[in-house]
Amino acid sequence: MKVINGEKTGKEMEAEKQITIKTKNLNLHYGDFQAITNVHLEITTKKITALIGPSGCGKSTLLRVFNRMNDLIDDCQVTGQILIDGQDIYLPDTDLIALRKKVGMVFQRPNPFPLSVYENIVFGLKIHEQKKKKSELDDYVESSLKEVKLWDKLKNKLNSIALGLSLEQQQRLCIARLLPVKPDILLMDEPCSTLDPNSTQRIEDLMQVLKQDYTIVIVTHNMQQAARVSEETGFMFLGELVEYGKTSKIFTRPLKKRTEDYITGRFG
Ligand SMILES: Nc1ncnc2c1ncn2[C@@H]1O[C@H](COP(=O)(O)OP(=O)(O)O)[C@@H](O)[C@H]1O
Ligand SMILES: [Mg+2]
Repeated sequence: MKVINGEKTGKEMEAEKQITIKTKNLNLHYGDFQAITNVHLEITTKKITALIGPSGCGKSTLLRVFNRMNDLIDDCQVTGQILIDGQDIYLPDTDLIALRKKVGMVFQRPNPFPLSVYENIVFGLKIHEQKKKKSELDDYVESSLKEVKLWDKLKNKLNSIALGLSLEQQQRLCIARLLPVKPDILLMDEPCSTLDPNSTQRIEDLMQVLKQDYTIVIVTHNMQQAARVSEETGFMFLGELVEYGKTSKIFTRPLKKRTEDYITGRFG
């Protein structure tokens, strides 16, 4: 590789950039209504990408394309290509169980199962994998809770019902329960919208740790949050990806007037 004064050139960095999710000509309809129009997008490996835009512009819909959650919605039609690690995930022989292990999702409202903390963490393993020994399950519980910084708080409460935890702890647990099946990608749909500012900050800090191991896509209508946590940002409006690029650039020197109007608060 050519190195100038010990620094890589912008072009070289671009060429080395690894892409985990790529969409080409992505269109999505709910019945007659087109919710996503012609989206071309490349999501970088082990970075945080934020999708911003006003309510109803297709952010959650786009996120659900990446693990084919929209398949569960009647009348939802997807066209175009969606590649994850170079594989077209909409080919008919796609293994949906493997896809959803690889691409985990957390939602606006924390939704732990009405089970114990322990059972929440091992739930995915019990469904997806062959029987494991109790000691192995114990290890998964400990390592997953450590990854989301809940172990110290919960190690003596593993049998407590998860719904009794604070909302922040529930959301951490919802992230933790994705981890035993070894995802590569974490999709987060407004994960802090039910949390207070302190909890929000702690979840944002956690995201910075998690991105060392996972590619993260976060939907947020909170622009400050996008600016704080993400390296790359996509601005969506009425189903289109209006602009996509480095977060610092989108928030300081957007190319499109509509992006500028949105980030300066003229609408949305
Ligand atoms: N299950 C569905 N059936 C029909 N229309 C839907 C469905 N889900 C979302 N929509 C519509 O698709 C558009 C995009 O919705 P959504 O992806 O939820 O937007 P956002 O997450 O940006 O608020 C909205 O007009 C919404 O009403
Ligand atoms: Mg949404």
